[in-house]
Amino acid sequence: MTVRLATAFLFGTLLGTGAMAQSSSPQFVNTLMPQPAHLSVQSGTLELTTQFTASEDKFHDARLDGAVARLLKRVENQTGLQIATAPASGSATLTVTVDGAGEVIQSDDENESYSLDVTASGAHLQAATVVGAIHGLETFYQLIQPQGAGFILPAVSIQDSPRFRWRGLMIDSSRHFQPIEVIRRTIDGMAAVKMNVFHWHLSDDQGFRVESKVFPKLTELGSDGDFYTQDQVRAIVAYARDRGIRVVPEFDIPGHALSWLVGYPDLASGVGSDGKGNNQGPYAISRIYGIFDPVLDPTRENTYKFLDKFLGEMADLFPDPYMHIGGDENNGVQWKNNPRIQEFMKAHNLADTAALQTYFNHKLLPILQKHGKKMIGWDEIFAPGLDKEAVIQSWRGFDSLAASAKAGYSGILSAGYYLDHINSAEEHYLVDPLPAGSDLTPEQSAHILGGEACMWSEHISPRSVDSRIWPRTAAIAERLWSPQNLRDVDDMYRRLWVESVRLEDFGLLHLAAEDMGLRKLAGTQEITPLKTLAGVLQPVGFSERYQLQHTSQLTPMDHLIDAVRPDPPSRYQVKITVAEYLKDPAGATAARAQLAAWFQQWVDAAPKAQQLMAAPLLESAAARAQQLGDLGATGLQALDYLDKKQNAPADWKQSKLALIEEAKKPVGLVRFTVLDPLQELVNAVP
Ligand code: ACM
Repeated sequence: MTVRLATAFLFGTLLGTGAMAQSSSPQFVNTLMPQPAHLSVQSGTLELTTQFTASEDKFHDARLDGAVARLLKRVENQTGLQIATAPASGSATLTVTVDGAGEVIQSDDENESYSLDVTASGAHLQAATVVGAIHGLETFYQLIQPQGAGFILPAVSIQDSPRFRWRGLMIDSSRHFQPIEVIRRTIDGMAAVKMNVFHWHLSDDQGFRVESKVFPKLTELGSDGDFYTQDQVRAIVAYARDRGIRVVPEFDIPGHALSWLVGYPDLASGVGSDGKGNNQGPYAISRIYGIFDPVLDPTRENTYKFLDKFLGEMADLFPDPYMHIGGDENNGVQWKNNPRIQEFMKAHNLADTAALQTYFNHKLLPILQKHGKKMIGWDEIFAPGLDKEAVIQSWRGFDSLAASAKAGYSGILSAGYYLDHINSAEEHYLVDPLPAGSDLTPEQSAHILGGEACMWSEHISPRSVDSRIWPRTAAIAERLWSPQNLRDVDDMYRRLWVESVRLEDFGLLHLAAEDMGLRKLAGTQEITPLKTLAGVLQPVGFSERYQLQHTSQLTPMDHLIDAVRPDPPSRYQVKITVAEYLKDPAGATAARAQLAAWFQQWVDAAPKAQQLMAAPLLESAAARAQQLGDLGATGLQALDYLDKKQNAPADWKQSKLALIEEAKKPVGLVRFTVLDPLQELVNAVP
């Protein structure tokens, strides 16, 4: 994909002309996400008609039947064709040939490969396992493209398998509880982009989110009533399995465990009212965020008895081979301040609190093993003496992942995939768990299992969560599935925006929630000028929001920052269009026209947006509307000077650059997405 073609596509989508879709030639527009390992385009097309049928000709089970039935329904929704025919063997449009069910409990060893051949007369999907077939069905769906008045699949031959075996998304349900319907639609989205691990962060300082029948006070006192029942958990595990996705639960211990201590204060390490660690508490759920002193007591056998019973109960509920024990950000303060624990450390030759945490993990491992689980934890569990079977999830940096691989531990990468940091899809996409030129040996490289996007929930609500996850997570999914050398950002965005629209079919609100939010904030349906403004804004990053707003669990998440999307298309579109224009200002007429249209749109929208922003919850960001108009006018003036090859007046450049600098400040907790290219444009004026 050349920049020129990509830009033409951008113009098509942005101006709503649908330029690519209108093409009448039978040209294959590759919108697959993730890209397959091997794709060859053949000649011809498979037409989709009401006679479309699918059959499973070798093996089938309820899971495969369900996946095929869902595909048929989605094909109907996509094409408007009523596909009523029952699968007739022998004459099916899509034949699905699967060798067997695959693993009874899906593990990271599951065979996920498939091949898909589409010809003018039919499509053939082959896979060793149902999970492979599920992935292949998603590819089949993504191949559907409009042609003329109908829909076709291009003739292709695809052989596909994932680069990494662990392609995950973590959701933190503790800091802000995420209702079951959010979890369900997120799993749908994950399946669409072939992710295979849903990592469910179920306990933290701000809430304990899963029902325990053995220790009911965990949720009775530690959840504000917001938790998942065991029946709901079982339903989610089954729903995920039906889509080829494992569910790895996380119970974060020994730190980040305040919500446990509300109901079971004796688990804590404080000195207690008798100064000996007894009669502890009372503890309360934390409303604020951060790292807190309360931590489980690793020196008492009662702690392990409790964990044995609790983790045993959870091991039955979550069939996955792995149990995530967190292990992050324990400051050790309660351990340092408790004379009894200090005595224990001396007696056991434990030099510091890190060593005591390793002792804790050591005691935990046989408990997990007894319940059939392997241990996974965050970076901090990586310490001398850690059992080699433990998997390390690296959040502190790529170097720590490489260090653990060199030491013989398997690991997954999350540093660089933190969705709450509000980075661009581009930035996430270029982060690689195993980059080209890595100094790991083949054996060490095999320890890099993959990666996980992380959706920490300090700053998300059930309304905003989708736009924080999607579509950026689809770019991460491609990084983890597709070949290492696929790094064309232009082409990634072109496909990402198509995939983003496809994802809406699952009820995901990542696009719709912005409009809903703007309507609510402005108190009117007439939000067109606000949409123009919101289209070039994005939320400030995690730390900025935290510092500027002093957020807590009780902070309402319903302002402009919660409505606007991270990395909206404007950021990349304006960037590449300005770059294309500046390469040849006299020749790049399409790019110039597009820039002028955008700038004029900003100028026109500004006064109306300003009026709407008198609404109470928009007022703090009202300066953004004025700035939008000023930026648009600046852009138009710059184009004008560049057209005429005319020197701008002496102070023009200075005043416009100052205006852009001013607009960089995080007013109203939102930032403009277009300031860097605009600055380049102004700087290019003679
Ligand atoms: C983490 O971000 N504390 C795992």
